[in-house]
Amino acid sequence: MNDIDLKQYIASIPDFPKPGILFYDIGSLMRNADAWQLATARMAHAVAPWQPDQLAAIESRGFLTAAPLSTRLGAGIVMLRKPGKLPGETISHSYDLEYGSDTLHIQAGAIQPGQRVVVTDDMLATGGTLAASIALLRKAGANVVGASVLMELTALRGREKVDVPVHALLSYD
Ligand code: PRP
Ligand code: MG
Repeated sequence: MNDIDLKQYIASIPDFPKPGILFYDIGSLMRNADAWQLATARMAHAVAPWQPDQLAAIESRGFLTAAPLSTRLGAGIVMLRKPGKLPGETISHSYDLEYGSDTLHIQAGAIQPGQRVVVTDDMLATGGTLAASIALLRKAGANVVGASVLMELTALRGREKVDVPVHALLSYD
């Protein structure tokens, strides 16, 4: 199975969640055991040279890519969560969306100063979420050495918003 073959497991759903948006569904890939094993193995293979100590998982679909990457690479997981989800002291970073703004949090002390961190998510679209996650991780003391996503919408040029290497397993125009 090659990357082209893996794309056939990603269902594309028109007009979701809004009219005019073509939604690429990670769920249809994940429920095929062989395709999901191959996808996560390939993602781990690409990330391995960065030698992460931690995977930073962006709520919520980034949790799904972080878990297999961490076990395949022998790294930990740190969650980047929406407000009100993490106990204890947190560090936060707010960022602008098309309409309004959003905030991500990380537990204070989750990252040892200078730890090598790879941030992961299912999708890179505009890059707003990934750029905010990297900014938050740096506030927390991380050495962000790369980003790993399952899918990238290249036409939106989200990777231009970030200053770390990005690996995308599947690219869509
Ligand atoms: C989606 C996707 C990425 C983000 C990408 O998350 O899972 O996290 O959008 O978009 P961007 O590159 O334009 O920032 P969403 O906010 O829909 O939430 P979810 O992961 O909780 O489903
Ligand atoms: Mg998300």
